[in-house]
Amino acid sequence: EKGGYPHFMLKEIFEQPRSILDSMRGRMIAESDHMMMGGIREFENKFVNAERILIVACGTSWHAGLVAEYLIEDLARIPVEVEYASEFRYRNPIISERDIVVAISQSGETADTLAALELAKSKGATIFGICNVVGSSIARATDAGAYTHAGPEIGVASTKAFTAQVTVLSLIAMILGSKRGTLETSKLRQLMVELESIPSKVEKALELNEQIIKISEQYKDATNFLYLGRGYNFPVALEGALKLKEISYIHAEGYPAAEMKHGPIALIDEHMPVVVIATKDSSYEKIVSNIQEVKARKGKIIAVVTEGDTTIPAMADHVIEIPETSEHLVPLLSVIPLQLLSYHIAVMRGCNVDQPRNLAKSVTVE
Ligand code: F6R
Repeated sequence: EKGGYPHFMLKEIFEQPRSILDSMRGRMIAESDHMMMGGIREFENKFVNAERILIVACGTSWHAGLVAEYLIEDLARIPVEVEYASEFRYRNPIISERDIVVAISQSGETADTLAALELAKSKGATIFGICNVVGSSIARATDAGAYTHAGPEIGVASTKAFTAQVTVLSLIAMILGSKRGTLETSKLRQLMVELESIPSKVEKALELNEQIIKISEQYKDATNFLYLGRGYNFPVALEGALKLKEISYIHAEGYPAAEMKHGPIALIDEHMPVVVIATKDSSYEKIVSNIQEVKARKGKIIAVVTEGDTTIPAMADHVIEIPETSEHLVPLLSVIPLQLLSYHIAVMRGCNVDQPRNLAKSVTVE
C-alpha cells in the first residue's frame, strides 16, 4: 500500500506531480483562458463583490491560507485576512453578510476550523470550504466549496494536501482576478500556462532527493533550525519549519527574512543551520543581504534558489536549485525540498515519520 516506498510520507511527497494535476484538472483550459470552478460559480456575485475574504484554518492549512492572502490580494485586489481558527472563534470577531469566509482543511474534521465556520455562518457570512476529504464535516457545513483532489493522505505530516490546497487557491485567485478585471488576460494566460507546467517542474524538484539526503546527513544532529523566506516564500518558511519540528523533533522556527534582525539574529552562530528560500523574485536582492547577515555571524546557509543562480552559490554552504516559475506559484516548488529535508532528517534520527509522537491526523478536539 506504500507503493514500494518505506513510508507513506515519502510516497505522498512523490505523488505531488499527480495530486497537483488532479487538483487543477477540469478547472482550466490554458489555450482558451477558460477557468471554471462550480463552487465559485454558484456564489460568483458574492465573491466578486466581497468586501473582504476571511480565511480560517490550522497548521499547514493555515500556511496555505497565508499563500492565498498574497495571491488574492495581488491578483484579485480583495482584502484578505488569515486567521488561526482557534483564535478567531474566541475573540468576538467582526463578521458581516458581505464577508466570505474560506475554511481550509485537509481532513475536514478539525474541531477549531469547524467551530470557526459555524460562528461565521451564524453571523450571515458566506462559507466556502476547501477540503480534501469528501463528505467530511467541514465540507458538509459550508455553503459551497472546491475539493482538493490530493487523494487520501495517510502520513500525519501534511505534504500533498498542502500543494493541492495552494493549487486550488491559485485557481481561485486567478478566477477572481479575471472576473473583477484586476488581472489582465495576458497575465492570466501566462499564469495558466505556468500552472500547467507545475507538475513537471515538481517532478524535476523531486530529483533533488539524493542531494537532500547528503545535506540531511550533515545536519541531522542539529538542535535548532531557522527557516527564512520573503513574499510568497514566507509561508513556505513557516511550513518548512513546521515539517521539521513535527517529525524530527528538532526545534525550528520560520520567519519572514527581514524580521531576523528584530530578534532571531541573536541565535545565529556556527551551530545554527539557516534554510533560506531565495528564489528569483521581487524580494531577491533583499534576501541576498539577509544571507550576508547570517554568513557574517558564521551561520550555515542551506539556500533554495532558482536554477542558474550564480550569486547565492558563492555565499551559501549548500545550494538547492529548483526550476524557475512565476513568483505567484513558487510555493508549489520551493516547499518540495523542505518536505524532503524534514523527511530524511527524521528518518536518520530514527523517528516514526508517519506517526510522530503526540500528533493525530485529524484534530477533532480543541
Ligand atoms: C501539519 C499538520 C497539521 C494540520 C492541521 C490542520 O503537517 O498535519 O498542522 O495541517 O492539524 O489539519 P486539517 O487540514 O485537516 O484541518
